[in-house]
Amino acid sequence: MKNVAAVILAAGKGTRMKSQIPKVLHEVCGWPLVRHVVSQVKKMGIKKIIVVVGYRKNLVIDCLRDDKKIKFIEQRQQQGTGHALLMCEKELQNFRGDILVLPGDVFIESIDVIKKFCSYQKKHSHDMSLLTATLAAPKGYGRIIRDAQENVVAIREELDASRTEKGICEVNTSIYFFKKNMLFPTLRRLKKNRIKKEYYLTDIVSLYSNRGLAIGGYNIDDLGCVVGVNNRVHLAVIQDILKKLIIKRHQLNGVTVMDPNNTYIEMNVKIGNDTVIYPFTYIEKDVNIGMGCKIGPFCKIRCGSSVRDNSNIGSFVEIVRSRVGSKTNIKHLSYIGDTKVGDKVNIGAGTITANFDGRKKHQTKINDNAFIGSNTVLVAPVNIGRGAKTGAGAVVPKRRNIPKGKIAVGVPARVM
Ligand code: UD1
Ligand code: MG
Repeated sequence: MKNVAAVILAAGKGTRMKSQIPKVLHEVCGWPLVRHVVSQVKKMGIKKIIVVVGYRKNLVIDCLRDDKKIKFIEQRQQQGTGHALLMCEKELQNFRGDILVLPGDVFIESIDVIKKFCSYQKKHSHDMSLLTATLAAPKGYGRIIRDAQENVVAIREELDASRTEKGICEVNTSIYFFKKNMLFPTLRRLKKNRIKKEYYLTDIVSLYSNRGLAIGGYNIDDLGCVVGVNNRVHLAVIQDILKKLIIKRHQLNGVTVMDPNNTYIEMNVKIGNDTVIYPFTYIEKDVNIGMGCKIGPFCKIRCGSSVRDNSNIGSFVEIVRSRVGSKTNIKHLSYIGDTKVGDKVNIGAGTITANFDGRKKHQTKINDNAFIGSNTVLVAPVNIGRGAKTGAGAVVPKRRNIPKGKIAVGVPARVM
């Protein structure tokens, strides 16, 4: 989408989260909220993306740093959503096209909604359009005020709303389209809200309306699709929605998930066909699992780890920053950290890689066909040769590598 620029407002503190961390950095399925918003905007094919940052801005910039295309604009003082958008005037001065504005604290289930909203704006070419939703429980959202002809004439925030206005169920999702020409001159005319002493972006609606500019209100009736996050209850609600969507996607891709309600899979996880995930498994973001594996019950595979085809990761096993080869079994009660495990390895029950010496993490390598006896401790850095074995209860000290095909037993372990 060449002629659309997106502005994501992410400078606020998020007082209602009661947190030291900016609200937009609270995580859902392994990603901060704002990263979900950016990802959805990118899926729309929008190339020009601006993120307005302010409160603890370096943290926010840091979490999006891999995305070289994002332009960050600073709002030094958090003077409201209207003020935040005004900060982008200079950055957009040579941009020709429409501006899509989104809050950084919104969860958008599917971009279909935004696509429909885009088509609506394209078709009608209003000076501004709002994406609205009708909610059974509208409390906390800005209410949409329409006149007798159903034209949108204002948005009233909860704090300013009269009793009758509070009864309105059509709410502002905070996703807007603006044609550029009238936007910034009008933003400059916003007045501070009397109660909150902030410049509300929502007040732009009545300014547009008074000038006879065209305002479109595009209503999505089911706000399961777009949810604002202002406190930790909302956060849990969208965590639940997204978690189900992620699991459904894996199921449709050929993965058996025995108990979706008690399985946690974060963003950007790849799982091959015919892998079975047993209950109470937690798979963090960026994990890769091959085909035909058995994972769980009760296991945790941490961020960035991988497990290749036909391997079993069983109960009470934690895999951290590690790569596990194919046809390997790690079936009970193990901690495997900073380790490369080869193919056809058997890791006995209770095996621990002691990867942390109190200061630094160290690597372990367990080569193909190795057989690690139950309750072995491998103190990293250490290398277990191809086809080597350890006896039950062995403690292999650091750098005491076991040559290929040899057997080591005892505490400290000696090669027999
Ligand atoms: C806003 C809307 C409300 C709408 C709701 C939908 C306003 C005044 N109200 O309320 O009509 O129903 O979203 O969720 O816009 N931000 C800044 N700088 C600031 C203040 C906020 O960048 O100075 C950012 C925040 O980081 C946040 C977004 O703007 O991502 C929205 O701010 P928030 O305080 O959550 O507004 P709501 O009360 O949710
Ligand atoms: Mg909000």
